[in-house]
Amino acid sequence: MITERIAKMWLSKVCRGSFNPSVQSVFREKIVLQNLISIQSNRQFSDGYSQPKESTQKAVTSFYNQSAIDASASKASVRLTPTSILYSGKSADGSHILRSAQYLHKELPVRIAHRIAGFRNLPFIVGCNPTILSVHEMYIRAFHLISEFPMITDFESEEPFSRMLKNLLDEHKDVVTLLAEGFKESRKHIRDEQMVKNFLDRTLTSRLGIRMLAEHHLALHDERPNFVGIICVNFSPKKLIERKVDFATKICELKFGRAPNVRINGHLNTMFPYIAQPLDYILQEILKNAMRATVENHLDNVNMPDVTVTIANNDIDFVIRISDRGNGIPHNIVRKVWDYHFTTAGQSDNHQVDGGLFGNIMENRAAGAMHGFGFGLPASKAYAEYLGGTLTIESMQGIGTDVYLRLRHIDGKKESFRI
Ligand SMILES: Nc1ncnc2c1ncn2[C@@H]1O[C@H](COP(=O)(O)OP(=O)(O)O)[C@@H](O)[C@H]1O
Ligand SMILES: [Mg+2]
Repeated sequence: MITERIAKMWLSKVCRGSFNPSVQSVFREKIVLQNLISIQSNRQFSDGYSQPKESTQKAVTSFYNQSAIDASASKASVRLTPTSILYSGKSADGSHILRSAQYLHKELPVRIAHRIAGFRNLPFIVGCNPTILSVHEMYIRAFHLISEFPMITDFESEEPFSRMLKNLLDEHKDVVTLLAEGFKESRKHIRDEQMVKNFLDRTLTSRLGIRMLAEHHLALHDERPNFVGIICVNFSPKKLIERKVDFATKICELKFGRAPNVRINGHLNTMFPYIAQPLDYILQEILKNAMRATVENHLDNVNMPDVTVTIANNDIDFVIRISDRGNGIPHNIVRKVWDYHFTTAGQSDNHQVDGGLFGNIMENRAAGAMHGFGFGLPASKAYAEYLGGTLTIESMQGIGTDVYLRLRHIDGKKESFRI
């Protein structure tokens, strides 16, 4: 395989430090190009890298144009507040849908180009990991598809644009799992953990923003009562928590044969405008962690202690606390739980990244996984902070853990986050 030989040659030279970083970057582009050109069936690298998913790469070579990506990467992204999306959300003649498509047509290539620049800035040997490279290539393909889409002037051109967005959302749904796999495979080459954390925080939150915008645009086409796009105008935290409890209970029962009871208390009837999708992911991850800790620490106990979820709402923000009696997080790992890939799950479990996030917006390839990739807490924290909030843990070692998710309202009364 030409690609494999070229890649190995460059890798060995780079490992010996024969090339300077700018030369490495050119070589990596060569490898990206080679990957795009050669769609071969077997690219297993000798050091255990798994084969990348190659479903969407065939068409990429015809688009590859680095200078267009560079030009977009030099532009600033235009981030919107949920309030501006909410109030420009509806017009009788549907012109809001056209405006939304025109905004995305201009904005998405800029955001995607920033991410491509992130891939290019990874250490050479990490960026050459076939799984990471396959995600890099997916971003390049998305960039060219969107940026080369003709001007959107009417509903006739908007319709294929929306169709393309929907397809891209679907093609990219496993990106978090792929990145988790890719970085796990390249662990031994990573010297700078902070670099990986920054890359993953940025890539995951930027992806969250892109997917929220794209899902919002698609949802504008549907007339759903109490919704403007993806914004639910009377969002009920209790209802979402109940759904997530059902979901996590099923997974927990599948994994352990039992699951703790979950009590919900606090402001049960509160409702306000919010976007459920990112919350959906975060709650799911925190609930699974609380259930796992409870089950694992009460193996001989017929009556497991409940997990308790408390909702507190006020004018500025709302807080959801998930408390368990799963013995707490030991002192020696309480800081590490925020690191990507840190997990106390047995290595033999071989789970995929816990996904299922919020249906289509994030991830659903691995919706059934209880734990395993060590992405739940760091990704949830990155999402919470992207949403202008916080995710903190108070562990009472020997008793249990309280996780606090604090998020700002998006009702426009105070500054909120920008998507
Ligand atoms: N409620 C909890 N009680 C005890 N330990 C926890 C709790 N939540 C998280 N942890 C610890 O933090 C680690 C990382 O959690 P997470 O990022 O969700 O990854 P994963 O669930 O895949 O292991 C877990 O493996 C576990 O050791
Ligand atoms: Mg977890």
